[in-house]
Amino acid sequence: MAHGFLLFLLFSYIISTNIHACKQTERSSLLSFASTLSSPPSNWTSFDCCRWKGITCNQDAWVTHLLLPSQGLKGGISPSSLGNLTHLTHLNLSHNSLYGSLETQFFLSLNHLEILDLSYNLLYGELPLSLSSCNIQIVDLSSNHFLGAIPSSFFQQASNLTSFNVSNNTFTGYIPSSICLHSSPFLRLLDFSSNIFNGNVALGLGKCSKLLVFRAGHNNLSGLLPEDIYNATKLEEISLPLNSLHGAISDKIVNLTNLAILDLDFNYFGGKLPLNMGKLSKLKIVTLDFNNFEGALPSSLMNCTNLLELRLGSNNLEGDISKLDFSRLSQLTKLDMWNNNFTGTVPVSLYSCRSLKAIRLTRNHLEGQIHDEILSLKSLSFLSLGYNRFTNLKGAMKILMSCKSLHVLLLTGSFKGEGMPYGDDMVDFDGFQNLRFLSLARSDLTGQIPVWLSKLKNLEVLQLGFNQITGPIPSWLGTLPRLFYISLPNNRISGEFPRQICRLPRLLYEPIASQVEQYEIELPVFGHSKTTTRTFPSQKLSFYREWIDIANNNIVGDIPTEIGQLHLLRGLALSSNNLSGVIPDQISNLKNLEILDLSMNHLSGKIPLSLASLNFLKYFNASYNNLEGPIPTGTQLQSFNSSAFEGNSKLCGAPLPKKCGQDNKDNRDVDHGLHQLLWFYIFATLGFILGFWGVCGSLIINKTWRYAYFRFMDNLQDKFYVMVTVRINTMKRRLRG
Ligand SMILES: *[C@@H]1O[C@H](CO)[C@@H](O)[C@H](O)[C@H]1NC(C)=O
Ligand SMILES: *[C@@H]1O[C@H](CO)[C@@H](O)[C@H](O)[C@H]1NC(C)=O
Ligand SMILES: *[C@@H]1O[C@H](CO)[C@@H](O)[C@H](O)[C@H]1NC(C)=O
Ligand SMILES: *[C@@H]1O[C@H](CO)[C@@H](O)[C@H](O)[C@H]1NC(C)=O
Ligand SMILES: *[C@@H]1O[C@H](CO)[C@@H](O)[C@H](O)[C@H]1NC(C)=O
Ligand SMILES: *[C@@H]1O[C@H](CO)[C@@H](O)[C@H](O)[C@H]1NC(C)=O
Ligand SMILES: *[C@@H]1O[C@H](CO)[C@@H](O)[C@H](O)[C@H]1NC(C)=O
Ligand SMILES: *[C@@H]1O[C@H](CO)[C@@H](O)[C@H](O)[C@H]1NC(C)=O
Ligand SMILES: *[C@@H]1O[C@H](CO)[C@@H](O)[C@H](O)[C@H]1NC(C)=O
Ligand SMILES: *[C@@H]1O[C@H](CO)[C@@H](O)[C@H](O)[C@H]1NC(C)=O
Ligand SMILES: *[C@@H]1O[C@H](CO)[C@@H](O)[C@H](O)[C@H]1NC(C)=O
Ligand SMILES: *[C@@H]1O[C@H](CO)[C@@H](O)[C@H](O)[C@H]1NC(C)=O
Repeated sequence: MAHGFLLFLLFSYIISTNIHACKQTERSSLLSFASTLSSPPSNWTSFDCCRWKGITCNQDAWVTHLLLPSQGLKGGISPSSLGNLTHLTHLNLSHNSLYGSLETQFFLSLNHLEILDLSYNLLYGELPLSLSSCNIQIVDLSSNHFLGAIPSSFFQQASNLTSFNVSNNTFTGYIPSSICLHSSPFLRLLDFSSNIFNGNVALGLGKCSKLLVFRAGHNNLSGLLPEDIYNATKLEEISLPLNSLHGAISDKIVNLTNLAILDLDFNYFGGKLPLNMGKLSKLKIVTLDFNNFEGALPSSLMNCTNLLELRLGSNNLEGDISKLDFSRLSQLTKLDMWNNNFTGTVPVSLYSCRSLKAIRLTRNHLEGQIHDEILSLKSLSFLSLGYNRFTNLKGAMKILMSCKSLHVLLLTGSFKGEGMPYGDDMVDFDGFQNLRFLSLARSDLTGQIPVWLSKLKNLEVLQLGFNQITGPIPSWLGTLPRLFYISLPNNRISGEFPRQICRLPRLLYEPIASQVEQYEIELPVFGHSKTTTRTFPSQKLSFYREWIDIANNNIVGDIPTEIGQLHLLRGLALSSNNLSGVIPDQISNLKNLEILDLSMNHLSGKIPLSLASLNFLKYFNASYNNLEGPIPTGTQLQSFNSSAFEGNSKLCGAPLPKKCGQDNKDNRDVDHGLHQLLWFYIFATLGFILGFWGVCGSLIINKTWRYAYFRFMDNLQDKFYVMVTVRINTMKRRLRG
């Protein structure tokens, strides 16, 4: 009886393993995979692996799905484990921290695989020679550390492939030309972007007759756009930015009637834009910035009523834009035409594009005045008109101040020689309610800093440098609650450094500053960081760092001791004024200070010992003052060049050649030419003013940097932003991998 019952138990056990539970071999494969993970999925312990988290089996109890995306998995992935799951059709382990390489065996037994998503992991090494599953439809290996060339045999059996994404890796060599050959019938999506592919875009794309999306930006591709790309008539997106492609866009582009996105930024494309381009009625986003396109803007483009963004900056386009009729572009949100040779006035029809959020016409040859019809652009948040020949600044400001949504207003280098806009009609002022970034720099404007600025409660960045501004620095500047960047250099400002400035809320303590949200502006502005001299674009306003620059004015009196309250200040430029008294000890409270320029004043006394505690200081200059005594030794101050101290006859000790205790003769040697030179140096190499197309403009045009891709990192040690090209970045990753 007992025997019979045991037998029954054993029997039902065998039945249950065969019918309900997964195969033991598969279970052991999965366990072998789990054993390499630092924290395997919680319920991967029970007998029946078909009921484990992320696992699905078919009727015959073969594991078909292994889906564990974003599970925080850490560990190795090995062919000897997963490779035994021979009936697997869906494998999705994306967004984990898996490492290891996909050797040939990995795919060898996975010949039923249909969906493979290993994106966002730490996988490395080369791809195996071939995908062995002829059912494979989706391959996503993006955002890993794979390298080497993609073997052309890889796609040999992949005749059902619809989507192939290897973006954001370190692949080299040619983009495999076999892909359209083998996978043509179903292929819809190809993404090769952000790798180091080189050579031509010779894909036989014309054979990819179903292709919708083709991306290969941020690579090292050269040559022409292949003619047969125009045969892939289903294409909706072509994105090839940041390569070295050249040649013209062919008239045949009109065959791509579904094209919605054309992104060719940062290449060497040239020639005229196809006249009939406007036949592409589905066009939504056209970005052709940083190329050599020339000639007029085809008026047919004004027929593309679906256009959202038209970005043509930094080309050689020309022609009278007032003749263009923008009135049909009712969806247009961004128009960027900066740095071309356009002439004429701002087209009136532009004011009927009611969706416009950003207009940039900077650096052209435009003229005329700002129309009050601009007020019909209710969403306008970014307006940049600098370096043109517009007139009537006062009129413009009186109109624009009613632009309720305006966040960024950049009029740098326009309205040359006019007066600062103020007057009776701006007394009862409640305009510019949302303005965060205002530049009226580099225009030789006369007059004083206008009082209406005191009402701009949202102002964060103010640039008024390089004008003819007279009068004092108004003390109310210190009351603007969000202001953190004040740039007033090269004016004729007089009076003392107002103590009230030392109460700027944004510069006092972290809690106040961190309440202000990170704000993204509609179009990238350009500047360069202190650590590199390269120009780079940014859409974050925090790209401007906490800064007070009043250099090259006529400021007199002491540096107020209250300066020590501006704990968050990163740069203080007081050079070339008439400041006297001592360097206040309190400056050493400015622990975030990276740049301190006190040169060319009449400061006296000793250099405070405490300055040595400014750990982030990267640029220091106290030259040409009346400082005396020893330079504090054993400190960071010694790491600066002796030129930072020269021109102070009574100063001694390293890095100056004059030893303390010796009574050297006064060898002060003021070279007034040096003054200019120094300023140039600061501007050009230190990015002192992250000026909007000031000095930087000429740099970004420099082709050397054109295909550099820029990325910021807040480095803990070097709390400054650094810019890394993709290539440097990927090299680093390779070193790590
Ligand atoms: C996978 O199968 C091979 C032979 O087919 C075997 O040697 C190996 O142990 C299996 N791996 C696991 C983890 O079961
Ligand atoms: C394991 O977890 C998954 C989801 O978390 C659940 O659906 C499944 O029933 C669990 N299996 C067992 C045997 O507890
Ligand atoms: C993998 O899983 C993630 C998260 O669920 C999902 O977004 C992604 O589309 C899946 N991949 C594929 C190829 O289906
Ligand atoms: C494509 O996949 C289907 C199943 O989805 C399959 O029947 C067919 O054989 C595959 N085609 C090729 C050429 O492998
Ligand atoms: C490819 O994968 C990346 C993530 O690594 C994603 O951002 C991109 O949109 C994908 N490409 C396509 C065409 O879907
Ligand atoms: C590129 O890959 C890295 C590492 O896998 C990842 O951290 C990063 O977010 C990816 N970038 C994009 C744009 O997807
Ligand atoms: C980019 O391509 C050029 C040839 O077009 C080659 O000389 C250069 O070495 C390539 N750069 C990288 C990083 O592969
Ligand atoms: C593109 O299509 C045209 C017309 O169908 C054909 O004559 C031409 O050979 C094709 N070009 C390429 C490169 O496939
Ligand atoms: C492209 O369009 C032209 C007419 O504009 C036509 O003659 C040609 O056959 C088209 N090519 C393809 C591949 O459709
Ligand atoms: C714009 O389209 C209209 C018809 O919709 C056409 O008559 C006109 O010629 C087109 N304009 C241009 C410049 O192509
Ligand atoms: C504008 O045209 C002039 C000659 O007409 C040329 O020298 C200059 O380089 C052009 N500027 C741009 C940005 O294309
Ligand atoms: C600086 O101040 C001195 C008096 O302290 C005065 O003589 C001199 O003219 C001033 N220099 C400038 C440039 O304002």
